[in-house]
Amino acid sequence: MSDYRPVPADKFTFGLWTVGWRGVNTFGEPIRPELDSVEAVRRLADLGAYGITFHDDDLVPPGSSASEREAILKRFRSALEETGLAVPMVTTNLFSHPVFRDGGFTSNSRDVRRYAIRKVIRNIELAVSLGAKTYVCWGGQDGAESEAGKNDAAALDRLREAFDILTSYVRDKGYDLRFAIEPKPNEPRGDVLLPTVGHALAFINELEHPELVGVNPEVGHEQMAGLNFVHGVAQALWSDKLYHIDLNGQRGVKYDQDLRFGGGDIKESFFLVDLLEREGYDGTLQFDFKPPRTEDMDGVWESAAACMRNYLIFKERAAAFRADPEVVQALEASRVPELSQPTLGAEESLSDLLSEEIDLDRVGERGYHFERLDQLALEHLLGVRR
Ligand code: GCO
Ligand code: MN
Ligand code: MN
Repeated sequence: MSDYRPVPADKFTFGLWTVGWRGVNTFGEPIRPELDSVEAVRRLADLGAYGITFHDDDLVPPGSSASEREAILKRFRSALEETGLAVPMVTTNLFSHPVFRDGGFTSNSRDVRRYAIRKVIRNIELAVSLGAKTYVCWGGQDGAESEAGKNDAAALDRLREAFDILTSYVRDKGYDLRFAIEPKPNEPRGDVLLPTVGHALAFINELEHPELVGVNPEVGHEQMAGLNFVHGVAQALWSDKLYHIDLNGQRGVKYDQDLRFGGGDIKESFFLVDLLEREGYDGTLQFDFKPPRTEDMDGVWESAAACMRNYLIFKERAAAFRADPEVVQALEASRVPELSQPTLGAEESLSDLLSEEIDLDRVGERGYHFERLDQLALEHLLGVRR
């Protein structure tokens, strides 16, 4: 058994806004002090993380002068150098300032949309200078409370226009940077545009440079809508579109809980890690969680460490599940490998299939033994089988 100690090679990253979340919510004031970005870099490096990510405004407070910005970036860069922490992803805050009350790329106000694109492009320059390869776009305020005020087709046109402008920009500049759209069904808006992984994947196909745009699914965001996160990720991987991932926890269909990874649906977490590891996903594994308001700063670092530890525990349990000879046999009994066999063989023609007979009574009696398989998975997950 490993000691579940994360190392940079595990490629775990944290948003500066996660450990730095001060706990402001709809009903409560901030309960934790401001977290210095240099302190965040040092603590995360000590815990064994690979990288740190940020929104433009997390690192450089809005309204900073050019010299203040320079000073902040200088300190941040030297902390990165000192610790070896990477910045593999950067994103933009297009949701906090009052101008974004009706969204960024899809605000009804044209001047706001133009400002949103300027804000992203300015931050892309910083992202590239720090070596980031992924640029996440979460359209938090891009949505509506009422159908009356939003022309959805026009909003999708404007969203496509924004991505076409941004992808052309990075192509023209020759930057090695790809975009990852982060779906979310609701919150802060009553309904958010591109609510699920599936909506985002379909949207990407309509873009001028679809090869530069993928998805950044977040565990809780699919689960908030009662969807199966593992299925969403599987489809993103199948489409070669899993450019980034936000790991956290959610318990049921309710507000976005952003619990630490492992603090939500543990069975889905287990199968998620199993999928990522088996598919050889080699991108970074980001934790996008909010340490609960009950925690002081010690609790923040404990929950950050627990996110990574839990991933490594699930990874070990999933590997044990796959290596168990009884599981291999149960998979066979459940005909799981048979699904990978094409329905029409390479040597066959459609007429072979059309002329074939099936014994409906006999095949109709066939049981699939998924219960046995699932119980084996559960026992591995719970550490009962090793
Ligand atoms: C959420 C979102 C955000 C985004 C982040 C990146 O919890 O609603 O996940 O945390 O990931 O803002 O832009
Ligand atoms: Mn979230
Ligand atoms: Mn997220």
